[in-house]
Amino acid sequence: MEVKSIKEKHTELLMHSVRFAKDEQGRRKGQEVLFKWPDVEKQLGEHKHIYVVDTRLGSNNHTHRLWYDIIPPHTEEGQDWRTLGHRHTVEAIIYFLKGHGHSIIDGERYDWGPGDLLSVPMFSWHRHINDSDEPVLRIASTTGPLSLALGQAVYEDERFPEFWIYAQEGEDARKTLIPGGGGKMVNGKDAGNRTAELYAEQVAFAMHEEQLRRKSKVLVKQKDLVFEPTAMGNLAYVVDPRIGFHSKALGVVMAEIPPGKRSGAHRHLYDEIDLVVGGKGKVIVEDKEYHFDTLDVLAIPVFQWHQYFNTGSEPLRILGINTRLAMDNLGLSLTHQGEHADYV
Ligand SMILES: [Fe+2]
Ligand SMILES: [Fe+2]
Repeated sequence: MEVKSIKEKHTELLMHSVRFAKDEQGRRKGQEVLFKWPDVEKQLGEHKHIYVVDTRLGSNNHTHRLWYDIIPPHTEEGQDWRTLGHRHTVEAIIYFLKGHGHSIIDGERYDWGPGDLLSVPMFSWHRHINDSDEPVLRIASTTGPLSLALGQAVYEDERFPEFWIYAQEGEDARKTLIPGGGGKMVNGKDAGNRTAELYAEQVAFAMHEEQLRRKSKVLVKQKDLVFEPTAMGNLAYVVDPRIGFHSKALGVVMAEIPPGKRSGAHRHLYDEIDLVVGGKGKVIVEDKEYHFDTLDVLAIPVFQWHQYFNTGSEPLRILGINTRLAMDNLGLSLTHQGEHADYV
């Protein structure tokens, strides 16, 4: 086996850092963009849970993933869940395409149907139940890859208490939306000096965060979406902290493009995964063109110009799930607007 000198080893490490961004541009260009529904549907026939965009399947998306799954009629996701369900330290978006049912999230019941969306608060126990005679078809997107990279991916499942990290530590730990948290809010106001006050605020942060999570919005009904004209075309913000959600990583928008029209063009430093929820069209990503139909999924590579065209006779509706909020919080957000939409 070749033994590297200290100099060779550390020069290699330095060059890995220097080269990374240029290499990454190549990886972005090679990223798979279009995932066709008929292929996913075929796989769902064999297994009811199919990962579509996922770094473990070769996607260059470092921050979130998307899967399709089916809950059979009158059953529940995780068949043996009876009380808690499961909880995890990732943000999760669920969008329902077919069927009707309800979810129990942090003890509250939410009824949903096609076109409705859930933003599951961080570390809340939840279960999803199909109440109807037809299968529930849905997609879910989570920040799993981001939490794994941070070493903070905790997944506690009612069925597997042997893998619990926090939930076995008593009633408070079982109820909290903060991993490892639970307990009373500490008041840092009378700490004695400014530094002690700052530190007390740090200690209080998680409990404050929990209060905000419990107050935040969870369910979005399709009929409540408000579309308004923007440089990118008609958009509705679906999940965003500026409209009542306590999201720190995942944001969602819905775009609508009339037949024969095109959206604006833009590029950004956050990952974006699109679900085509109605109509058909094409997207130009840098110099390549992809034709898509309803239920297809698009994974838009970071910082690649993209623009959507409605090539069908129905309104084109695209649900865009992105990690803009995570990048904003890291100070790494940048969006460039190019050509504007041609219909607003
Ligand atoms: Fe979940
Ligand atoms: Fe975009």
